[in-house]
Amino acid sequence: LDSERFAERKNPTGVPHLGNYLGALNEWVKLQQNATEGTRLFFSIVDLHALTVPQDAAELKKWRKEAFATLLAVGLDPKRSTIFYQSAVPAHTELMWILSTVASMGYLSRMTQWKTKLQLPEDATLDDQTARAQLRLGLFSYPVLQAADILIHRATHVPVGEDQRQHLEFSRYTANSFNHLYGPIFPIPEALISPAKRVMSLKEPTSKMSKSHADERSRIILTDSPDVIRKKVKVALTDSEPSITYEPARRPGVSNLIEILSHFEGVSCEDIATEYHSASLRSLKEHVGDRIAFHLQEIRERYVGLMDDKTGYLESVAEDGAEAARANARVTMRQIRDAMGL
Ligand code: ADP
Ligand code: NA
Repeated sequence: LDSERFAERKNPTGVPHLGNYLGALNEWVKLQQNATEGTRLFFSIVDLHALTVPQDAAELKKWRKEAFATLLAVGLDPKRSTIFYQSAVPAHTELMWILSTVASMGYLSRMTQWKTKLQLPEDATLDDQTARAQLRLGLFSYPVLQAADILIHRATHVPVGEDQRQHLEFSRYTANSFNHLYGPIFPIPEALISPAKRVMSLKEPTSKMSKSHADERSRIILTDSPDVIRKKVKVALTDSEPSITYEPARRPGVSNLIEILSHFEGVSCEDIATEYHSASLRSLKEHVGDRIAFHLQEIRERYVGLMDDKTGYLESVAEDGAEAARANARVTMRQIRDAMGL
């Protein structure tokens, strides 16, 4: 679960928004449902990545627990998937060091992430004075830890959004560099790009729904109450044309609502537009609000139950997950140590 911009949000929460849910989490649940016998799935909360920006300890503790509870609440099943905190499996960081001995500085400095973080121009280089003064090593080497997260479990496929393709490409490149030097240890991981359409901001429907937008009404988060969900949809920015049509480029606001409905009802956007053609915008909004509220209710109830639980259930699931992940990572580390003469 991405924690990149955790510290930049006003009310940081580990609870994802509807875009994360439809674009990523729900796709992972589908992967779990469709996984063939013998396929193993690993999901980690990347609490070490969160440290690349200054964190308040109590806030981080809360964030990682919320994120973990969310994975279970949306339907990832610890019996079928290995779910753990990254920091509970030290081999991730051990492999990070090893990979950093083969990872290319040039490649890393061409990646956009640290430039965006520091708000430097795209053409900034490592020689740039300002960049050098502010740059933290962990922020720069963030992709190396990402590569380790993937390669330590000998992953063959990684579900990512289109925006994260670049980072997976770095992992593939680094795995190849390692294999070239030490022998074929790592499978080269393939991207599983989410087929889901982007959910757009409710307030600015030409940009994607995101945790980093200041206006909280621009996104629905998975723990919003039914009332809050209906209200946010009701005040979503649309146009004032009288009929309902599906035209993403010309009518992004209405089309976004249709797309959301299409996700939940499993009906094409065109069919929804036909069905609602002469309905009022208000009734479309009511229907979309109800549908989202209905679907998220079960997730929300499970989430609240997990967060309120006093029996140590979450902790025990996390420990079992970490144990299984450590065992799997040990196999990889043994091969690496043999290959490298350690
Ligand atoms: P954000 O844009 O809110 O910072 P992240 O970058 O943390 O979201 O993305 C986490 C995952 O959710 C990624 O797989 C990303 O592709 C997916 N995702 C994020 N926003 C959306 C969206 N609006 N619609 C569909 N998928 C999204
Ligand atoms: Na992002």
